[in-house]
Amino acid sequence: MSHDTLIPASQATTAAIPDPGLGEHVERFTDADPAAGNRVYRSILFKFALVPVLAIAFVVVYFAMDKTAWVEVLGTRFLLQHLLLGVTLGLAILLIGIGAVEWARYIMNDEEVAEERHTLATSPADREVLSKKFAAGVADSGVKRRPLLLSAALGGVGILAVPVVVSLADLGPWPTDATRKKTLEKTIWAPGVRLVNDINKLPIKPGDLEVGQLVNAEPATLFDLAGADQQVARAKAAIIVVKMDPDTIKIPDSRKDWQVGGVLSYSKICTHVGCPISLWEQTTHHLLCPCHQSTFDLGNSGVVVFGPAARSLPQLPIAVDSEGYLVARSDFTVPVGPSYFERDSTKDYQDGDK
Ligand code: FES
Repeated sequence: MSHDTLIPASQATTAAIPDPGLGEHVERFTDADPAAGNRVYRSILFKFALVPVLAIAFVVVYFAMDKTAWVEVLGTRFLLQHLLLGVTLGLAILLIGIGAVEWARYIMNDEEVAEERHTLATSPADREVLSKKFAAGVADSGVKRRPLLLSAALGGVGILAVPVVVSLADLGPWPTDATRKKTLEKTIWAPGVRLVNDINKLPIKPGDLEVGQLVNAEPATLFDLAGADQQVARAKAAIIVVKMDPDTIKIPDSRKDWQVGGVLSYSKICTHVGCPISLWEQTTHHLLCPCHQSTFDLGNSGVVVFGPAARSLPQLPIAVDSEGYLVARSDFTVPVGPSYFERDSTKDYQDGDK
């Protein structure tokens, strides 16, 4: 519409919109032909009955299938187990959806009614009418004539809880004390393991670093592992190595032999929620996490000076081996990464600890 055809609101006249009324009612094929109605009914039942079969197939695939088998589909490689889990669960949900839509379209009452609009508050009389209508709706849904339909629908939806519960196993082993000590609270750092640069994979000597420099590093033994084991180990063992002037930093007595002439090593995993950190301010000795700005003072045993992190950055005790390369003296003395309920915080370094 051009601006020329617009008229001012003051000159506009209001006219009631004519009631379009109800369109002509078209009888459904399932009402016109009872045999067709029964066919649709059986088809819906069949769809609901397939859902438990697919749920069982999901569980079998989850537990019994080779977890390393691959398959190529349209030029893309998928883990066969993941593909089948998706297909079985997706088909189950789809069948419930299609069955419910068909039920509403072909089995429920097809009567069309026009209702007047009322004020928002519902009177007791209206409530009574509503409850009668609800009862009529239940009757219209066909469940009284075909009670099996409702049972099949509820059974189909209910059985889908099984794949959901089974998938909880992917959250990992139950975190008992012993499990935590072998997993969360342990990395592959051990006495004598060399620190290697994570880019060129070369071992590091203290003399390779300049004062103020930071390098990212990892354990040399990482390369004895492969695949997912290597990735898990890398995620926990990633470290940073920094060189600072020993006269400008605080080194507590208990950590005097954790460093080599101002070269110190810390976990690279933020103790807030686990982001990798390496934003380094060499003049202040502060290390900043890019995720939520937690800031750790590497010149004071990694204490938190700002941000939401609740505990110091774990320090890796290091030394040099007979060839002068940096090596770990032990694993970390506290768990790396974010907090968890059972974590013992008493060993975390606090500002001023000896
Ligand atoms: S993960 Fe580092 S501050 Fe949140």
